[in-house]
Amino acid sequence: MVQPEEQARLYRPRPELLPAAHVPSLADYRRLYRRSVEKPQEFWGDVAKEFYWKQQQQPWVPFLWYNFDATKGRIFIEWMKGAKTNVCYNLLDRNVGEKKLGDKVAFYWEGNEPGDSMKITYGELLRKVCQFANVLHNHGVKKGDRISIYLPMILELVIAMLACARIGAIHSVVFAGFSADSLCERILDCGCSLLITADAFYRGDKLVNLKQIADEALQKSKDKGFPLKKCIVVKHLGREEIAADEEIAADGACSQSPPLKRLCQDVQEKKTESSQRLHPKIPWDPHMDVWWQDLMSGASTECEPEWCDSEDELFILYTSGSTGKPKGVLHTVGGYMLYAATSFKYVFDYQPEDIYWCTADIGWITGHSYITYGPLANGATSVLFEGIPTYPDAGRMWSIIDKYKVTKFYTAPTAIRLLMKYGEELVKKHSRKSLKVLGTVGEPINPEAWLWYYRVVGEERCPIVDTFWQTETGGHMLTPLPAATPMKPGSATFPFFGVVPAIVNESGEELEGEAEGYLVFKQPWPGIMRTLYGNHQQFETTYFKKFPGYYVTGDGCRRDKDGYYWITGRIDDMLNVSGHLLSTAEVESALLGHAAVSEAAVVSHPHPLKGECLYCFVTLKDGHEFTKDLADELKKQVREKIGPIATPDYIQNAPSLPKTRSGKITRRILRKIAQNDRDLGDISTLVNPGIINQLFNNRCDTKL
Ligand code: WT7
Repeated sequence: MVQPEEQARLYRPRPELLPAAHVPSLADYRRLYRRSVEKPQEFWGDVAKEFYWKQQQQPWVPFLWYNFDATKGRIFIEWMKGAKTNVCYNLLDRNVGEKKLGDKVAFYWEGNEPGDSMKITYGELLRKVCQFANVLHNHGVKKGDRISIYLPMILELVIAMLACARIGAIHSVVFAGFSADSLCERILDCGCSLLITADAFYRGDKLVNLKQIADEALQKSKDKGFPLKKCIVVKHLGREEIAADEEIAADGACSQSPPLKRLCQDVQEKKTESSQRLHPKIPWDPHMDVWWQDLMSGASTECEPEWCDSEDELFILYTSGSTGKPKGVLHTVGGYMLYAATSFKYVFDYQPEDIYWCTADIGWITGHSYITYGPLANGATSVLFEGIPTYPDAGRMWSIIDKYKVTKFYTAPTAIRLLMKYGEELVKKHSRKSLKVLGTVGEPINPEAWLWYYRVVGEERCPIVDTFWQTETGGHMLTPLPAATPMKPGSATFPFFGVVPAIVNESGEELEGEAEGYLVFKQPWPGIMRTLYGNHQQFETTYFKKFPGYYVTGDGCRRDKDGYYWITGRIDDMLNVSGHLLSTAEVESALLGHAAVSEAAVVSHPHPLKGECLYCFVTLKDGHEFTKDLADELKKQVREKIGPIATPDYIQNAPSLPKTRSGKITRRILRKIAQNDRDLGDISTLVNPGIINQLFNNRCDTKL
């Protein structure tokens, strides 16, 4: 257990370890912060001058124009509207040309199999992006068209995103762990004209036949009256298939590239059907499907960027919504670019010689802002990792850190807790001496995990930036700065530049000093989302209605006597599993899709590794019996409807659910039952208090 004094203690940065820091002291942070919130137009205006704008001479009048108050009309946020730029041009052309970084490595790609790696320089990346932008043009893609991207963590994912940005198309990246249903839902919602996917990939020792899942999604989408015309398929796992096949045929040996070696082993050990696996038996529709590689080989490496308005759409990224339907968070060109770039620079104290590694998947906002956009805007060298922390063993992260001499490392509390379980030895076997700054994101980090990260991984040398933010905010909101902010384990500390947090009570009154309540933000920062794609009204109700004049995060928060912010977790019907938000409603609707289920209620439950997990109460229809097989089927149902991250840990039989007179299920009580906490508080509003005992009694045999 972490002692209270340890948690309350301030962990001071050691400035001598970051001598060139952009913000070398707390006083410097305060000075810059004050300017950023008192004179946001000047502060961000200076930042904007470091980017390329098509019309020179500060074409932005007004620089910022917005309404944050729903009682005064429509909510809108516009930064630098009227100014023209191109994000891809700023990330690549400018770095290659003006900054002469053409030969600098943009990404070291590290495959799932150790030894399988590649690198790409800024110059090569620019050429590939131009080629793919031309491919998109050749397929009739125009500015404003939506493109869905369903790819594993490979270089083509970054290339596809930037090619979209180059021609003004709007990308919608769908995490490759999502199911066919989830992909289909996202395809339909944004009405994309084209899908980009890959043949297959390994995640740890698990083969994912991505094209097969994509095909299922495309079929579903067609059945719903929305047929896509093209599907571009990256030959990833099969990229050296022919050579591999020949080798197996020749001597049965498996001496070629690491991922194929793995595949061959599977074949030989008869884990897969036959060597046919090397040509994944993906259904191939010649009218619809085209290989990425075939299209690229004929495409020109030059492509004029499309000059976009600062407020044109850059991308859509879906995040869970409390209604159960994912929300298409929309970010625009200028503000997002400034914010991702600036937060990356300051929060990781980026220096030109850094080797930076963010372990998030690009399918989440962390990967968008802090693998693709932020690092490239700064001309940084990053590691892009395809695999998982525990494959081939739980030392993989540390060995990658040593292999590339990673200086700045950004991961999630859930990964830290997982690796903690394997003990210190595995970490200490590796040097890690290159490390300078550590970061976390996704959920509150428990002080035990923080201290382990600090002491064992960083050897008390590296500051930890605990970054609080959201898909909707585009970039970091509350975070320490590595050389400036004294840290407290578990606190995201202070606001980033331009961010004005407040804590309000249920009636929307701002609380001063030490306080706990709803976390809201008072004025726009450049990275804030502009709308929910195709549903501006839902945007206004979700984020601006509850407390007029504020952006509402949906998180609870406490401010301590020193002004430090502590996120206490979600206060809406959302839960955070391994750093990924899910809504209880979307899991309930997946359960209700099963023929045996008449009612379902899902609550969040503490979990030692995942942070939170899903505890589901189901009421069965007459004639159905609750068995282990049924519980397994229900888990599978949720997995297939949403994806593996949503797999419930517990399914409990509930003959009925506790409800209020108006029929509302009291999830508060269900949470207590799940935790076997009999301190239920007021239950007088229930119509069926008698059910409670029965639900407690059903508890014990729930972990099936
Ligand atoms: C929610 C946003 C931001 C990228 C990853 C998740 C929780 C995120 C922290 C943190 C405490 C955190 C919040 C937030 N969260 N980072 N450092 N400390 N909580 O993006 O899926 O949009 O989820 O994640 O609850 O609202 P997301």
